[in-house]
Amino acid sequence: MSTLVPAGQAARDVAWITWAMVIGSGFFTLLMTALGLHAVYRRSDRPMRMSSRGMLIGGGLVLPLAVSGVLLAFGVPTGYSMLSIGEADIEIRVTGHQWWWQIEHADAEGQSLYTANELHLPVGQRADIHITSADVIHAFWVPVLGGKLDAVPGSVNTIRLQPTRVGVYRGQCAEFCGAQHARMGFEVHVHESEDFEAFRAALARQDRTLAGTPQQRQAFAEHCAQCHSTSPREDRLGPNLARLSERGWLGAGTLRNDADNLRRWLATHQTLKPDNRMPDHASLDADVLEALARFLEAAP
Ligand code: CUA
Repeated sequence: MSTLVPAGQAARDVAWITWAMVIGSGFFTLLMTALGLHAVYRRSDRPMRMSSRGMLIGGGLVLPLAVSGVLLAFGVPTGYSMLSIGEADIEIRVTGHQWWWQIEHADAEGQSLYTANELHLPVGQRADIHITSADVIHAFWVPVLGGKLDAVPGSVNTIRLQPTRVGVYRGQCAEFCGAQHARMGFEVHVHESEDFEAFRAALARQDRTLAGTPQQRQAFAEHCAQCHSTSPREDRLGPNLARLSERGWLGAGTLRNDADNLRRWLATHQTLKPDNRMPDHASLDADVLEALARFLEAAP
């Protein structure tokens, strides 16, 4: 998550500003230290070479104006690079929830495709991310791609990301939003254009409503389906699970997604991520939990 290893347009500008400020403030620290030492150790019988008026104008007016001017020259274009100015190549809606992210991509016809805690972007293209919240204020932040932006209930804020490198990057909620604020992470997958199209097509087909055995589907319908959908076209209360088996993490960055961790998560999610909104599964039998795990792993 280092802002100093940027993989996006805005993040690169931010990294430049960071370095400019580190070097600039380092230079001025050295300069002021040298002037201070000079003032302490200078021979008092020598007259001052600069008048107090010159000091006032030079140090009090010219210097701060010059420094502010340089910072503005760096800062204004950086701020602009994060704004959604001009047409975007793709648009994605993101909604913060306590404590996970709903991601809404669009299929080729512009219809919504829902997934959770994973955002997919094509490299080099301008993506507008429209951010809101379903409950409290969260903040959307992918340090290697761009700046952070608040997710505010009742309003939509838009940030522009333009990734410059293919890869998988970590994003994180950056505004304290309750007990599990730290476990509100997500992944951003930056693809080549054709791989991004393949992802979108795959997501559109990823309907696992008819996956697994009738007994497994029954277990899911009984215990999970009120809040979780297994069709990418449906928006329900909890994270969409159509693509769960492909996702890198469980519980919004709580556990790596593999067969063992899926079973651990199903059985003990309230211990792994206390107070998350999913009811405790302590009352469910081991064979029901196993049926749920197999349903979520079954090919769609
Ligand atoms: Cu959501 Cu912090």
